[in-house]
Amino acid sequence: DRPHRAAIASAHPLASAAGMQVLEDGGNAFDAAVAVSAALTVVAPYGAGLGGGGFWLLQRAEDRFETFVDGREKAPLAATADMYLDASGQPITKASRVGPLAAGVPGLPAGLVHIAETYGALPLSRSLEPAIRLARDGFPVWPRLRAGLVARRAILARSPAASETFLVDGTAPGLGDVIVQPRLAETLERIAAQGHDGFYRGAVAGALVEGARAAGGIWTLEDLETYQVVEREPIVATWRGTRALMAPPPSAGGVAMANIFQILSAYDLQRHSRVEQVHLVVEAMRRAFRDRALYLGDPDFVDVPVARLTHPFYAAGQRASIRLDRATPSDSLPGFKVVSGGGQTTHFSILDTAGNRVAGTQSLNSWFGCGYMEPTTGVMLNNEMDDFSVKPGVGNLYQLVGAQANAIAPGKRMLSSMSPTILESERGVAILGTPGGSRIISMVTLATLEWMNGADAETIVSLPRFHHQYLPDKLFHEPGAFGEEEAAALRALGHQLSEVSRLYGNMQVVTWDFKTGKVEAVSDFRGQGDAKVRVY
Ligand code: GLY
Repeated sequence: DRPHRAAIASAHPLASAAGMQVLEDGGNAFDAAVAVSAALTVVAPYGAGLGGGGFWLLQRAEDRFETFVDGREKAPLAATADMYLDASGQPITKASRVGPLAAGVPGLPAGLVHIAETYGALPLSRSLEPAIRLARDGFPVWPRLRAGLVARRAILARSPAASETFLVDGTAPGLGDVIVQPRLAETLERIAAQGHDGFYRGAVAGALVEGARAAGGIWTLEDLETYQVVEREPIVATWRGTRALMAPPPSAGGVAMANIFQILSAYDLQRHSRVEQVHLVVEAMRRAFRDRALYLGDPDFVDVPVARLTHPFYAAGQRASIRLDRATPSDSLPGFKVVSGGGQTTHFSILDTAGNRVAGTQSLNSWFGCGYMEPTTGVMLNNEMDDFSVKPGVGNLYQLVGAQANAIAPGKRMLSSMSPTILESERGVAILGTPGGSRIISMVTLATLEWMNGADAETIVSLPRFHHQYLPDKLFHEPGAFGEEEAAALRALGHQLSEVSRLYGNMQVVTWDFKTGKVEAVSDFRGQGDAKVRVY
């Protein structure tokens, strides 16, 4: 069966419209993904860019083919394990976050070209056309973009090209002011005309390397020439009649979620009180995030024990230490003895009328990546190197710790939390994902659990969220996630509650109900005015 309508949910109406235009021109969901991804690099430049990376989870309807396109950034070939440590072995403040030394070799352009050429029905130039137009003609500053510009003003001001593009006399422009990016339009045009080589060889590659090096980076032409996307087999887990198609390493998302579902599978959650449900989910998250820290990294470099970590027997072992009457202190689990941030990334979900599905998440890491824009190409560089473990046991921007598996090595991909996910059961399909750094995994987990309980798209994006990532040993939650009595009961179990001041996430969900045929697309209300939906 086919859905009667196509749907796109993304972080900005102009990006959703770009995808819609391509569908109307006869493109499929994969062409639309290219259009939406590219448009987001223009209108959501705080969270996505040609100078960044992305993951795209694809499901083709006609033959049920499924794949995960890994366009994650890679460490430059000149990178070393201790490149962000000082002579005494201590991390140098912000070295892995600010300036081109923090930038991994971009994968997003390679991903766009690969998806268009391998799975699209239209030429790449058609799918890039809306993004080129938005970059050339401009678009109005919107609330989330303005918030990012205010937050990163000082860092952007250090990069002449970034200030010229995004700031007015060194300050953030007002809402509605138009931002034009003619250089970025030219770079997109080169990719449209020349494909992969338009970015990774020739004038663009030369300018990027020169610019990055002049501003303290270590990129070489070889880094760009040798960059390739990798297609990987998605992680699949089936629980309570729902088949979840998830992101494999170098994302931590699929392994962690599969593990959480395995741990929870022995409990009949619905028969437990809400406090017990939260407690059990948190205990499962704690254990999955511990394994993230210890075992996960780039599968091309380290042997990630995916089969073991997602095996029911392994989960049974983890479950044995879970008590219903008490939280397990994280430091009592074998692992680390150790030690925030928002996480600016962007997600979109697409369903076309043939039933093809795409969940795509892309990122520059924190707001506007490393803050540097190369002047002749208009490309902002990421600061994804911070997603490596710069030192075992030392937390990154998201307070995530890591070990050898995620240590820096030349040409290696840094571990990610980006978790594009596609769920399917007798009931229907849900395509989902969100930005949010380490919290992505718990947000997508909670949304999945609620979808399994029968909740609709609106409900799964609206629910107040909670999160536990092993270290710090805290149960983070949004305001209103727990009632007073629930909070007291969770504290009594030994959980350290920590209310976050900001709402987190910007989930984009598309659902298709097999019984009613209803197709819905919902953007997170937390998106500060960017929560627009296109169903058509
Ligand atoms: N940079 C955020 C992530 O990939 O998890």
